[in-house]
Amino acid sequence: MRFARRLDAVPPYLFADLERKITEKRRQGIEVISLAIGDPDLPTPGTIVDAAASALRDPVTHRYPTNHGGDELREAAAAFYEERFGVNLDPATEIVPALGGKEAVGHIAMACLDPSDLCLSPEPGYPPYTSGPVFSGADVHYLPLSEEHEFFPDLDAIPDEITGRANLLYLNYPNNPTGAVVPEGAFERAVAFAGQHDLILVHDNAYSEVCFDGYRAPSFLETPGAKDVGVEIFSLSKGWNMTGWRCALVVGHPEIVERFRQLKANLDSGMFLALQRASVVALRDEREFPAQMSEVYRRRRDLLIEALAAIGLVAEPPRATPYLWLRVPGGHSSASFSSLVLERANVVISPGPGYGKSGEGFVRLSLTVPDSDLEEAVRRIESSLRASIMQG
Ligand SMILES: Cc1ncc(COP(=O)(O)O)c(C=O)c1O
Repeated sequence: MRFARRLDAVPPYLFADLERKITEKRRQGIEVISLAIGDPDLPTPGTIVDAAASALRDPVTHRYPTNHGGDELREAAAAFYEERFGVNLDPATEIVPALGGKEAVGHIAMACLDPSDLCLSPEPGYPPYTSGPVFSGADVHYLPLSEEHEFFPDLDAIPDEITGRANLLYLNYPNNPTGAVVPEGAFERAVAFAGQHDLILVHDNAYSEVCFDGYRAPSFLETPGAKDVGVEIFSLSKGWNMTGWRCALVVGHPEIVERFRQLKANLDSGMFLALQRASVVALRDEREFPAQMSEVYRRRRDLLIEALAAIGLVAEPPRATPYLWLRVPGGHSSASFSSLVLERANVVISPGPGYGKSGEGFVRLSLTVPDSDLEEAVRRIESSLRASIMQG
């Protein structure tokens, strides 16, 4: 048998490696706590589950949906964007459902990039910013995110021959894995940059609803001119604990929305109507729920930061996202520190370079584990690592 080479062209999926390590430890009977994966531990709100359950009993939902999505979902999405962000969207032409943000990140590349085109992708970054363009046959030019530039790409540093070839730019704020929020004026600069170089700008908004300390993450589409250059991918996964449901939206520039829909009309048949009805309940009736979840993550964030400080590790509290992006102690690489934490504390954390080479020197810790697991992880890290870190 011979298979397509495109799968060999992307790095192995980051979490596959981590999951193998966890499985190996567990096989040895060791109880491992994973702070590696951003998958909310708490359930979806009951009202959303009830809406899905009753929709399941309605035979209308058993038939093919459409890739456009039903009017009810698109109208609920428009009303949500208006109220939450003050962004006006035409439900008929500027909103389309997606089967999760990940699917949208990947497939939008296929709708926008030809072989030998170039995509500008932030790194460290979500792995589909690589696989989407690579599966489209395009090249990727990485934009390093550094602490010095507030984890926003230095757009002025991109060489002219690169911007000349580039067709797509991904951005993601609040950011995974760095937990950074968009710096003041940065979306404005990005809109101007995209306009100047005729780029399609795709803003991956997976985390706007997970915010702390009074911070309210904006939509990229709040930026004047944003809708002329791009789209935003909005996901229900993190705000409403719906990672398993695969509910997201692509909103903004009507032609990009339509091209994405056209591509998907060839690949899937749209979002299950029962899930559309559940999404309507999330967007329309459960607008306060993400704030309650954010409060849970804020409490966990503070607990973790305090414990890390007790062993001499200083982490900047993120203003959004359920992630801590922690600089590793002196003398360690991301890999050696992650291994130390795994070996000594049986706690799994993500080494930064798994998200891109500029992640070296950092690890990511996720707050999406039950309080009791987080408390236990903290106890283990404190007791088993205190000596080695304090010495280092
Ligand atoms: C930056 C980023 N974008 C998109 C997603 C995709 O989320 P989903 O496919 O569940 O909507 C994630 C999930 O972790 C993410 O971290």
